[in-house]
Amino acid sequence: MPQSPTLPGPHILYGGDYNPEQWSEDLWLKDMQLMQQAGVNLVSIGIFGWSKLEPQEGVFDFQWLDLLLDLLHQHGIQANLGTATASPPAWMAHTYPETLPVNAQGTVYGFGSRQQYSPASPIYREKAARLVRQLAERYGKHPAVVMWHINNEYGCHIQECFSESTAQAFRGWLRHRYGDLQTLNQVWGTAFWSQTYHQWEHIQPPRMMPAFPNPTQVLDWRRFSSDMIQECMQMEVDLLREITPHLPVNTNFLGISRAVNQRALAATEDVVSIDIYPDPAQQNAPQDTALQADWARSLRDGQGWILMEQAPSQVQWRAINQPKRPGQMRLLSYSMIARGAQGVMFFQWRQSKAGAEKYHSGMVPHTGVSSRIWQEIQSLGQELKALPTLKPQMKAKVAIIIDWDSWQALEQDSHTHNHLKLLDQVQCYHQALWKENILTDLVTSYHDLSPYQLVLTPSLPILSETAAANLRQYVKEGGHLVMGYFSGITDQNDHIHAATRHGSYNPLMCDVLGIRIREFSGHDPEEALLLDNGLHASHWSEDVELQGATPLAHFTHELYPHSPAITRHNHGLGQAYHLATQLKADSMHQFLKTVLKTAQVKAPLQVPEGIEVVRWEDGTLFLLNHHPTPQTVTLPEPHTDLLGGPSHQSELFLAARGVAILQPQPVTVAP
Ligand code: GLA
Repeated sequence: MPQSPTLPGPHILYGGDYNPEQWSEDLWLKDMQLMQQAGVNLVSIGIFGWSKLEPQEGVFDFQWLDLLLDLLHQHGIQANLGTATASPPAWMAHTYPETLPVNAQGTVYGFGSRQQYSPASPIYREKAARLVRQLAERYGKHPAVVMWHINNEYGCHIQECFSESTAQAFRGWLRHRYGDLQTLNQVWGTAFWSQTYHQWEHIQPPRMMPAFPNPTQVLDWRRFSSDMIQECMQMEVDLLREITPHLPVNTNFLGISRAVNQRALAATEDVVSIDIYPDPAQQNAPQDTALQADWARSLRDGQGWILMEQAPSQVQWRAINQPKRPGQMRLLSYSMIARGAQGVMFFQWRQSKAGAEKYHSGMVPHTGVSSRIWQEIQSLGQELKALPTLKPQMKAKVAIIIDWDSWQALEQDSHTHNHLKLLDQVQCYHQALWKENILTDLVTSYHDLSPYQLVLTPSLPILSETAAANLRQYVKEGGHLVMGYFSGITDQNDHIHAATRHGSYNPLMCDVLGIRIREFSGHDPEEALLLDNGLHASHWSEDVELQGATPLAHFTHELYPHSPAITRHNHGLGQAYHLATQLKADSMHQFLKTVLKTAQVKAPLQVPEGIEVVRWEDGTLFLLNHHPTPQTVTLPEPHTDLLGGPSHQSELFLAARGVAILQPQPVTVAP
């Protein structure tokens, strides 16, 4: 297999989305000078440039982009060139209204915002391909261009389209998947509510319906919709690899999200890039950032990744938007570098003066270079430039499982509890681990789990035989598994597992867990569920019968009185825990601390709460102080701070929101 082209380097990539088409050309030169001052080495350009590149159908204007790329090159700034397919121009909506997306109610989305295309539309794809080909042929060898930025945040606004041409594509996708209607009817369980299909043409997307839609139809629809987006991306990847095989390709993901199957899309690109926008007003901003960074690192199994967008300060798209605190942008940037980011990029370079994002911060704010934002941007850029080349390599000992299919099934309606959100559960596990400074990967139930000492599954309703066999083997060979409630209920078609009739839900795993699950119930999220060991829970309870497992806590609720809420079971060389409820954050923390001990997973360093620590395999140690006040950390051995702090013997002083990147000091042997 040919090797993927590698990232431009060796320094951390630093820059942002640059949209000079919003400004007159006399400002461009000034921008270049400011970029140099800020240590910018990469900008993403042309992402929303389609209407300027092809103002009329088939009439291209590349002059401005020629000039821009030449200017960038003259100033030593590299370009991550957008393929500009994220927002088709007005002529597309006008001449080809059939390319516009349609929602489940049949309403056609209009022009005047962005992402107004139907991913399955053959016309959109044809016009996008023509544009990408032109860009690749013209700029593939331009010395400023070092990478392709495909489209923008696939699925951010449009994840599915209910147009007629999409309905046709759906039928084609189903024919390919199932071959005949009999199989489709069986897989969709259409014997229920008289839904049996006798002709392919009768199959429709799950548009508005009088009552609950068929869950497997919806699941297939979500799979299909993600595949349509992936096909768009693959079309661009194929063209770019054909014409410019020397340039890496990437698309920027919309943070951690189920909008599209990001793991599948990541497999088609050379490098993962992602956009991370924690809310600075929320206490969990550091942990939210860490979770998304862990996700980015995990999407291509540990490969370095690029933070393609973060806000220099405030965004404009939440109901209420607060700026990042002094020092917070730098701190969060380093926390992502600690977790494998090889690029720290922003949305966007110059804050817009018009349009829907004019209140979104920019690296160059409305108020110019006298602002705090600019000072922080400039000083971080210069600091990163001075860093030696970093080679992130880390091995997490803990993994959380996220299966995209199961996520889709969990968040459908007509369930026992229609407010279960996978990310809430992931967040709860991850937060407890983050507090303990335990680095975590996010994997699937099909991954090789042997590198991990502890594996956690939030609710995993769909569990296939293959996945169950993988989890079983993991425990048998000595792994520690924590399996969450509402797991292992259905097969890959979202049908209740046939073996459930032998007396237990989660039948493929119940012997590993040493329990029988006879029944389950949803609870109002506000209802407190107290366990008899003092832990607090909510949302869910299960009627559990012990079949060899040891109970660690019981429900006190009248529904399943004395039923084990937390159990532990030895299986083979390992241990399997079961959580029959949703532990509250503090209780989850308490519980996981004991599990970490049993699984012998240790933090790299003992530090005060609120100090984030990440250790790389080469001994590099990141210390991040998330407090607005200074903190002191005790170090076991002398280190050198790559950020210029003094060499430390045993006490390290971390400023408010301060960072240290420590490397062990070489031992000097006396002559
Ligand atoms: C997303 C988009 C950008 C911009 C930012 C604003 O990440 O990719 O184009 O809209 O949001 O936060």
